[in-house]
Amino acid sequence: MEKICIIGVGYVGLVSGAGLSEFGNEVTCVDIDEERIKQLNNGEIPIYEPGLKSLVKTNYNNKKLRFSSDINKSIKNSKIIFIAVGTPQKKNGEADLSYVYAVANSIADNLNHYKIICTKSTVPVGSGEEIEKILLSKNDTKLFDYVSNPEFLREGSAVNDFMIPDRLVIGSRSNKAFSLMKNVYRPLFINETPIINTSVETAEMIKYASNAFLALKISYINEIANLCEAVGADVHQVAKAMGQDGRISPKFLHPGPGFGGSCFPKDTLALSFLGTKNKLPLKTIEAAIEVNNNQSIRMVEKSILLLDNKISNKKIAILGLAFKPNTDDVREAASRKIIPELIKLGAQINAYDPVAMDNFKNHFPDINYFNSWEDAITGTDACVILTEWNELRGIDLRKLKSLMSKPVILDTKNILSVSKLKNLKFKYDNVGRKISL
Ligand code: NAD
Ligand code: UGA
Repeated sequence: MEKICIIGVGYVGLVSGAGLSEFGNEVTCVDIDEERIKQLNNGEIPIYEPGLKSLVKTNYNNKKLRFSSDINKSIKNSKIIFIAVGTPQKKNGEADLSYVYAVANSIADNLNHYKIICTKSTVPVGSGEEIEKILLSKNDTKLFDYVSNPEFLREGSAVNDFMIPDRLVIGSRSNKAFSLMKNVYRPLFINETPIINTSVETAEMIKYASNAFLALKISYINEIANLCEAVGADVHQVAKAMGQDGRISPKFLHPGPGFGGSCFPKDTLALSFLGTKNKLPLKTIEAAIEVNNNQSIRMVEKSILLLDNKISNKKIAILGLAFKPNTDDVREAASRKIIPELIKLGAQINAYDPVAMDNFKNHFPDINYFNSWEDAITGTDACVILTEWNELRGIDLRKLKSLMSKPVILDTKNILSVSKLKNLKFKYDNVGRKISL
């Protein structure tokens, strides 16, 4: 088992740190955000992620997991250094690698003995080479090996995804580094998790190609859903039957208001940027991005239609603000695109989300927030569901109707029963089924 330092304690860094300590390693997680480190040392978990709190607590108490603001010392004391800082998008769509390169410089200054420098952040092909150049500018080649180890966890199920991954990708040209990395993930290696040992460039490409393919699948089913509405087909039955074909698989065929989150939007743009830079434009990815942008606009248009083109001064309840259920993350959430459009049209917004309201308030301080869906819905002219939280799946439609001024619902996640809505005489719309109520 190895001494590990994880730089960047966000969704990926914290889950990876907790998971790797659970695998038996001695892990120190560091971050430039001192407040975050203080919180963690006080037993507070700065993000909402099911199962994470107990995993962190157990390993912290066992002294397998530590949190520190002393980045230099933590690098010096460790053998394997993971880079897990953000790689947001620049205005032109390119991935912003400034955080990654800043970390690479800190590592370069602290290579006191042989270490593996491993990137977990999602970085475009060629970044590993740049990181190696930074490390070599101050060090001898013998002092380190570079590894690309992209992460495939999903928010909301991150702990499970990390502990039981479909595969591990380890990009490195060094046999020594590969066997050390296998040791880091020893329980997975013993459990015969597929491990793909490849070049750094291929590992970097695998991550983008995977994310972009999943995004493409979502945009595809959203386009089919829109066509289903026009021609009278049911997208759920279409997706179910498509999914029976093992070559297609039923996963990532759920229609909705478009994909959001901190990864698909930025990673599709970054891959598209890389294609254009190499004079090989990726037409399918560009189309997936365009379809996704249009899908949120379509949800606004559906809201307008449901309210008979009279949206000004209407009170609209938005249920679900997170980009998906079981997370408090609102980065690139559909809510962040749809709410401002409704406000521009003169609507007043009542919002509710089981866990993401605090994060959302940082971006939209002036809308009305409520601590329950019942309070958010009271006296509203329409309700728009944007996240498929289990709590919202179980909404009592009779109660909902009794609390609203008018029984009007747009269910962008198709979580409510159409027949019940019909019986209760709701004015209703969804994604991918022609509704004739
Ligand atoms: P995040 O924004 O949640 O966390 C990044 C952390 O890095 C922050 O706490 C920040 O303070 C810290 N940081 C920034 N600069 C630093 C520095 N110089 N030194 C130390 N700490 C620093 O990011 P995230 O969502 O965890 O994503 C991290 C990377 O992993 C991204 O490249 C992302 O694409 C990739 N990824 C994310 C997910 C996901 O589900 N969020 C899944 C797979 C891969
Ligand atoms: C995604 C990938 O699934 C992870 O494998 C990857 O590691 C991660 O990005 C990353 O690189 O950061 P995540 O964004 O956390 O994970 O969540 P997903 O479950 O993939 O959902 C992304 C978006 O697509 C959400 O807005 C979700 O609502 C939407 N979605 C997903 C659909 O609209 N339909 C689907 O069928 C599936």
